[in-house]
Amino acid sequence: SVTIKKIHENPEAHMQGKIAVAGWVRNVRASNRFGFISLNDGSCFSPLQVVFGEDLPDFREVGKTNVGAALVVEGTLVPTPQAQQPYEVQAELIRVVGASVPEYPLQKKRHGLEYLRTIPHLRARTNTFTAVFRVRSIAAYAIHRFFQERGFVHVHTPIITGSDCEGAGEMFRVTTLDLLHPPRTTEGEVDHGRDFFGRETNLTVSGQLYGEAYAMAFGSIYTFGPTFRAENSNTPRHAAEFWMVEPEMAFAGLEENMAMAEDMLKFLIRAVLAEAPEEMEFFNRHLDPGLMERLENVLENRFARVGYTEAVRILEESGVEFEYPPAWGADLQTEHERYLTEMVYQKPVFVTDYPKEIKAFYMKENGDRRTVAAMDLLVPGVGEIIGGSQREDDLEKLERRMEVLGLSREDYGWYLDLRRFGGAPHAGFGLGFERFLMYVTGMGNIRDVVSFPRTVKNCNL
Ligand code: 4AD
Ligand code: MG
Repeated sequence: SVTIKKIHENPEAHMQGKIAVAGWVRNVRASNRFGFISLNDGSCFSPLQVVFGEDLPDFREVGKTNVGAALVVEGTLVPTPQAQQPYEVQAELIRVVGASVPEYPLQKKRHGLEYLRTIPHLRARTNTFTAVFRVRSIAAYAIHRFFQERGFVHVHTPIITGSDCEGAGEMFRVTTLDLLHPPRTTEGEVDHGRDFFGRETNLTVSGQLYGEAYAMAFGSIYTFGPTFRAENSNTPRHAAEFWMVEPEMAFAGLEENMAMAEDMLKFLIRAVLAEAPEEMEFFNRHLDPGLMERLENVLENRFARVGYTEAVRILEESGVEFEYPPAWGADLQTEHERYLTEMVYQKPVFVTDYPKEIKAFYMKENGDRRTVAAMDLLVPGVGEIIGGSQREDDLEKLERRMEVLGLSREDYGWYLDLRRFGGAPHAGFGLGFERFLMYVTGMGNIRDVVSFPRTVKNCNL
């Protein structure tokens, strides 16, 4: 027998020789004398064309193969100079190793994204989703390359945690399902999680606080992992489970933080354009015309920077009738973000120095005592994709802020240690990985860049 190859990896090496390929049927066309199968072997965006003639064993049965079937094809790889694809397989033997059915949920026609969301276990077999998830894989690898090449240490921060990094209270509680030992009931409250750990625990909303601890040992670190938020926001850009990239740098302030975020984002865009050219062409052609030109422009220009106070003034003076009138002290709404990124700057923009009341407890207070050294990166079409800041390194200020916000010493004493023992100035940020993927692919809904999305009222498989 012939070893099965993923032929797209190196077609020239197999040209004119006997090969075997294995994959899934995207489409079959057959006449009385010959037929074509479009086969996806997973190694490349465009399917492989398989040609077979009436001399093929089981010629008639093969012609009736259903879309979705798994096949092994033995034959010869030949160049096809005049056709759309550069080569095809002339089959000598086709074995159906996993049949499909005529009612297979994915047919040759284009299916709507909404319909495909109902079958997340099958949708990765479509053009759109092979493109999305190949880009996701390439981008994830590029993140590691970017930071490793710059000497950052990758830290695995815990998923189960006792702290609420963002202080927003939007956490999923961790409990046990201990059927043998029913939980004790304290004051009428049943709490399995408290029983196991001896305290309340939650799924992490961010690895940052732990990342800060490691930055005080390695200087520069990054985390890249799943985070969880029980935000009751049913929008195209909120998921209950999403991935975040969080670098943290000692001896760095807001300027270095912004420079790092800009470099990282450009590196990732460049990597995706270079390593997924067919996929990006596909998005550009079918989903978001102008996408590639826009991304090329992003690479060539410095991101804009504007202070929050100035941004609010721009919004107030815009003459636009916003649903929520902009006001100093309030968070920027989606409509404000859109106006700034799409009408004013038309490129990514860092908004800095937000009022401290609307930002997390750990951000460094500015000289004006009303704002903090925060930075959000807003991009056209998606809005906020990065949130970051310089961290408060003044022990007393941090203690006071935590007291005001009711954060207990018992829970966060260790975090204060980081300031007590060699507390160096430091800064970091979090990139929402799915938001980045939406930006770079042009996909309009976060549910379409996550393999099995979890959103409000949806965790079906
Ligand atoms: O702005 P956030 O809440 O910042 C933090 O969590 C910091 N601890 C990060 C840091 O400084 N290390 O979240 C960071 C990013 C957001 O800008 C957004 O892109 C993404 O995470 N994000 C979400 N993405 C999808 N669904 C959600 N529900 C998200 N919430 C935040
Ligand atoms: Mg944020």
